[in-house]
Amino acid sequence: MKVVMMGLGYIGLPTAALIASKQIKTLGVDVSDKVVQKVNQGEIHIVEPDLAGLVKHVVEQGHLKAQTKPEEADVFLVAVPTPFKGDNEPDLKYVESATKMALPYLKKGDLFIIESTSPVGTTELMADLIYAERPELKGNIHVAYCPERVLPGNVIHELAYNDRVIGGLDSAAAEKAVEFYQHFVKGELHITNARTAEMCKLVENSSRDVNIAFANELSMIADKADIDVWELIQLANKHPRVNILRPGTGVGGHCIAVDPWFIVSGFPEESKMIRTAREINNYKTDWVLEKIKSTALQFELDKGRKPIIACLGLAFKPDIDDLRESPALRVFENLKSNFSEHTILPVEPNVDSHGENSMVLLEDAMQSADIAVKLVAHREFKKLKIENEKILLDFCGK
Ligand SMILES: NC(=O)c1ccc[n+]([C@@H]2O[C@H](COP(=O)([O-])OP(=O)(O)OC[C@H]3O[C@@H](n4cnc5c(N)ncnc54)[C@H](O)[C@@H]3O)[C@@H](O)[C@H]2O)c1
Repeated sequence: MKVVMMGLGYIGLPTAALIASKQIKTLGVDVSDKVVQKVNQGEIHIVEPDLAGLVKHVVEQGHLKAQTKPEEADVFLVAVPTPFKGDNEPDLKYVESATKMALPYLKKGDLFIIESTSPVGTTELMADLIYAERPELKGNIHVAYCPERVLPGNVIHELAYNDRVIGGLDSAAAEKAVEFYQHFVKGELHITNARTAEMCKLVENSSRDVNIAFANELSMIADKADIDVWELIQLANKHPRVNILRPGTGVGGHCIAVDPWFIVSGFPEESKMIRTAREINNYKTDWVLEKIKSTALQFELDKGRKPIIACLGLAFKPDIDDLRESPALRVFENLKSNFSEHTILPVEPNVDSHGENSMVLLEDAMQSADIAVKLVAHREFKKLKIENEKILLDFCGK
């Protein structure tokens, strides 16, 4: 068996390496020369524990190689980005271009699987695209969808042990895909159709988004009602069937903050709660900004000078270095541009710099700041000591 993986990013590279580790001939295809070169040198271009050793091993053993063009194979996997564009519309241009690149190399009996998070109907669309150019393949190849649900930082383990949902365009495709995933997945493989599998991935992340939106809404209500939201949630969660999540600065990252829009754009009339949850989580970041600005203005009125503000955390969630779609980063950047006469200190223990901003050490920032704004619950901020004169605005709890 030979496998082609289209896209060698956070998902494609670990998946290709895991497949290759089962002594399956694997060709990784990426449009980036840099990525291809790195992989062929047995190196990696992303941060992911345990991945470097695995890639080095499978490249040295000759089971994984990379190039910018596909070749004939038995299985084609697509793990390219699916961002959104314009008015929160899914942008399928990468999935389309990967499908078009693979198209000339497809032959009778091949299995074509999309793993990229995709709006409902994408697998059918890509099959139509293939059959429009290669009508002889209709009924002769197997097309399926199998979403990825790994947690960055634990990808190698989760790729092997998570359950997978596998949706075929027909049952033969689903069964063929199950046979394939059995080579490297130890978790259970659940069979369905492609549309359900596509929606399943979107619904998983929307469920998280809606639940976080409830916590974020509560935090704003509690603030107005002069109630400590952390105590409130802790007490409510004593109910045996209540489990309220933690509020924060908003919701970020490339999954939970993005995927719900794929449902909203496809089903605008029916997805009122999912849309509202997205809006609440985005609004929470504006609310945080307003809190910081009004606290700073009050400080200026009281003390006759502008406060120094330290932003504690820029990543989109605790203990990672990923700044994609990060609400904390949005707060920092907004303060930098709209509060330009103030000194704004970025503190992010997981990165050295971002653009032209060098990070400030936590101890230095805490010494000079008048207002410390806790935007991300990084472990480094757990034992924060606040001196009498200083103000702490904590948006993510102890
Ligand atoms: N990263 C995650 O934690 C995660 C988790 C679950 C699902 N997903 C989904 O998996 C998909 C891939 O995400 P990612 O994080 O790996 O993206 P990524 O940006 O890390 O990597 C994508 C790679 O695809 C390459 N590429 C773009 N167009 C291509 C083409 N036509 N042919 C070949 N390569 C091409 C890019 O150069 C890049 O190296 C997305 O749909 C994402 O939503 C990601």
